[in-house]
Amino acid sequence: MIGTTPAAGAAVLLVGEAPGATEDATGLPFVGRAGALLDQLLAEVGLPRATVAVANVLKCRPPGNRAPSKLEVAHCRPFLAAQIAIVEPRVICALGGTAAQWFFGTGAKIGQLRGRAHDVEGRQVVSTYHPSAAIRFGPAGMWRAALRDDLAFVAQLAAAP
Ligand code: URA
Repeated sequence: MIGTTPAAGAAVLLVGEAPGATEDATGLPFVGRAGALLDQLLAEVGLPRATVAVANVLKCRPPGNRAPSKLEVAHCRPFLAAQIAIVEPRVICALGGTAAQWFFGTGAKIGQLRGRAHDVEGRQVVSTYHPSAAIRFGPAGMWRAALRDDLAFVAQLAAAP
């Protein structure tokens, strides 16, 4: 099972999809390639990785790295809900489509959701692209720039008085 790093008290909770191979091996979220990009972008926007909590929708890696099934998401739902309750973040940042759907339902479209904070059960939730998408489309791709902008917005919300 994947935990959060660190746990209670972080102002920001980032939520990804599911552990990859490196995450499964270490038991920590976002420590592989997507995690390296995430760390870099977080540092760029002044939100060091060590200060944020990180979790995933799924707690185990789906076989062959396939997309999570609805049933798997439903089974893992109470664990992420418990993590949110423990961390009590000011801002949650949903990374990618699976996390967007967890917060906003099946029809969630990141392109329409991003750019503002949404109230979800009393918490501010910002939706953005997954770091893996940013990697797939390259350093000059619009996904990387969008992800960086959205993380900067999350940093702003977290620092607001
Ligand atoms: N992708 C995710 O969504 N989560 C991780 O922890 C790693 C890669």
